[in-house]
Amino acid sequence: MLDPVKVGVLGLGTVGGGVVNVLRRNAQEITRRAGRGIQVTHASVRELSKKRLCSTNGMILTEHPMDIVNRDDIEVVVELIGGTSRAFDLVMKAISSGKHVVTANKALIALHGNQIFAEAQKAGVNVAFEAAVAGGIPIIKAIREGLSGNKINWVAGIINGTTNFILSEMREKGRAFGEVLKEAQALGYAEADPTFDVEGIDAAHKLTILSAIAFGIPLNFNAVYTEGITKIERMDVEYAEQFGYRIKHLGFARMSEQGVEMRVHPTLIPHGRLIANVNGVMNAVLVNGDAVGSTLYYGAGAGSEPTASAVVSDLVDVVRTLTVDPENRVPHLAFQPDAISRNVRFLDISEVETAYYLRIRADDRPGVLADIARILSETGISIEAVSQKEPPEGVKQANIVLLTHRVKEKHMNEAIRRIEALPQTSGQVKRIRAEMLP
Ligand code: HSE
Repeated sequence: MLDPVKVGVLGLGTVGGGVVNVLRRNAQEITRRAGRGIQVTHASVRELSKKRLCSTNGMILTEHPMDIVNRDDIEVVVELIGGTSRAFDLVMKAISSGKHVVTANKALIALHGNQIFAEAQKAGVNVAFEAAVAGGIPIIKAIREGLSGNKINWVAGIINGTTNFILSEMREKGRAFGEVLKEAQALGYAEADPTFDVEGIDAAHKLTILSAIAFGIPLNFNAVYTEGITKIERMDVEYAEQFGYRIKHLGFARMSEQGVEMRVHPTLIPHGRLIANVNGVMNAVLVNGDAVGSTLYYGAGAGSEPTASAVVSDLVDVVRTLTVDPENRVPHLAFQPDAISRNVRFLDISEVETAYYLRIRADDRPGVLADIARILSETGISIEAVSQKEPPEGVKQANIVLLTHRVKEKHMNEAIRRIEALPQTSGQVKRIRAEMLP
């Protein structure tokens, strides 16, 4: 058998430590699968003296990741530093030096992937990114290879473990948002900047990647409508439950004759659906293809070894393809580079059609509901359910909670503008989109 492949790991934190541990623990199985051993010989760290998740015996540590990228004996660089500036330079340098790259960096792929893959194609190297989406779930491979006979219609997923953990704890235990976020950070789920999780940016990065490989379109992060979970209140979670729904932070992408819609936002889902019962740090992705119908993929979306599982499987893939002609490899973005649809139309959120949950603060007196119903009817919006929640002691205004049938967002915007202008209502109407899903 050939000598082990020498790998340099950039970043030895939660995921990097997990990668080293998994490679060591499963070395025999991994070698039997890959056809060669995989050995981490070098790793870069922020502080040499810090305590780590893994042993660093047999590894040379440095605080200078570029030194690893510049080494001739390193064949594969694993980028786990995160961020988009330094990581971009390191990955581009690795590619131009003829090294293969494995990365878990969803921001890097979502924002710079078009350029990175074009350079990788020219250089004849692989850039593998399974760990960038949904942690340990092999969703990239499932869509890119397992479903390659299908026209993919849509993809819907809970693709951020931190927000799912927060929403689950809020619903099940009534815990406060900030306290649960702190726990997610301590468990290593959250991004370095947790606003990326709670404001939906991380999920938007992942949805950008899923959309590209599902529909054969360029990566276009700027076309994703992005809304986080910070405005979700406990009362909305409870009212949604009373209507038979759960609130989940969902990424949704669909290709239709009108164009491609990509959106990330809190979403009401009927409580009996499998995806509505995905809790804690778990992720799940539904993919609908014209031949296969709907398929569902479930697993841990963050954490040390679940993410390492995806990184290591990419390493195995890379090692297996070291001897394969670059022209005959699985294309990075699932479609052959010259067959990517570059003229696709991305839909603005105002063009998107969905159902809605509305919460309206209104005076508790005759005629208010009739006024609201009239506005909805005049804007072509049909009501599915309505309920008035008693105001607490001393509060004059009640909460009117409504579920509507599907309508274009621009019509809902108009209805909300008119409802907010009614003298009997106050404050902003709370709107949460709803999807029925299979
Ligand atoms: N912060 C991310 C999450 C990590 O919570 O899902 C995995 O990408």
